[in-house]
Amino acid sequence: MFKSTPPMGWNSWNTFGSDISEDLIRETADSMVAAGLPDYGYEYLVIDDCWSLRERDSQGRLTADPAKFPHGMKAVADYVHSKGLKFGMYSCAGNLTCAGYPGSFEHEFTDAATFAEWGVDFLKYDYCYHSPLIPGEYLYRRMGLALENCGRDILFSACSWGADETHKWIKTSGASMWRSTGDIFDTWESIKDLTRQQSALLPYNGVGCFNDMDMLVVGMYGKGNVGLKGCSDIQYRTHFSIWAFLGSPLMIGCDVRSMTAETKKTLTCRELIAINQDPGCRQPYRIQGIWANNDMVMYAKNLSNGDIAIGLFNMNAEKTVARFNLDELGLPHSTGKTLSMTDIWTGERAGTANATVSWELAPYDCAVFRARVVDQP
Ligand code: GLA
Repeated sequence: MFKSTPPMGWNSWNTFGSDISEDLIRETADSMVAAGLPDYGYEYLVIDDCWSLRERDSQGRLTADPAKFPHGMKAVADYVHSKGLKFGMYSCAGNLTCAGYPGSFEHEFTDAATFAEWGVDFLKYDYCYHSPLIPGEYLYRRMGLALENCGRDILFSACSWGADETHKWIKTSGASMWRSTGDIFDTWESIKDLTRQQSALLPYNGVGCFNDMDMLVVGMYGKGNVGLKGCSDIQYRTHFSIWAFLGSPLMIGCDVRSMTAETKKTLTCRELIAINQDPGCRQPYRIQGIWANNDMVMYAKNLSNGDIAIGLFNMNAEKTVARFNLDELGLPHSTGKTLSMTDIWTGERAGTANATVSWELAPYDCAVFRARVVDQP
């Protein structure tokens, strides 16, 4: 299935791990709609690992665990669809999933047919317990073909964590997104680490096959399956801003049934989502800046209407000043142009007259500008 902008939705893993059920999925669907999340673009509700029985049935088909999903998966899919959302599920290219449930290896076409029958719209496809004898690219191509021939439009979400140089072959598989990093945890160190890992892989992000930096931990506050220390609201806001800015799919990972007002505000920042969903999906580039250390991460991204998005991310525990010249963005003084910059989080305006922009950031904070090219005053 072709998707022209980064997919958006919710996934059960970060908060719930194996503790999933029909009731949870129904309540989550209800809460997503009640919070208005679909209006912002969040459309997929995805059940991750641990949904099936430990054995296939006598026909070799996967079966939903009746203790967790007493009415079967088709009923769950129907409910999710009745709310106007799309329904996602999970399997694995290996013999087993990462949590030890049956994987799709050597059952790819059967499983794709089962998912189609149930009304699945999205398949996350993991990489645990895969054969050491068969290259990953063959395995992802197999499932890509199985999905494309199953009679239903199913978005293929590859999850091989960037292993075996996934970036070099994943676009051959028909995947719409691919995990470019290892698993996220609800700590600032994890967010910082994934941000650093992503920078070399940005050239591989692009229309129709997006680098997936993993599900968001915004709003977890240390609770749930990958909740360790938790983060502050400022750190979550910076995390969300980086994922959105770098063109990652935006998959919510917190319990949407009990989101705080601050969590909802972060996840529904329209201006940031618009940068993430900009139809050009242009590659963001690192701004080198002036006197910038490694923890002052600055990116720019040219938007389709001629504006420039500028993201200044302070990854450090100290207050820091971000500085850069407009030359780096293609606007030296000789062009007669400058930028009119407004921070989309605070509404604060940056001066436009200088060729050098300086902006002070509190510890772990960020500023994201949508900047307009204007005449110099
Ligand atoms: C892997 C994936 C995670 C999650 C778990 C489920 O670790 O990277 O996102 O799907 O498996 O077991």
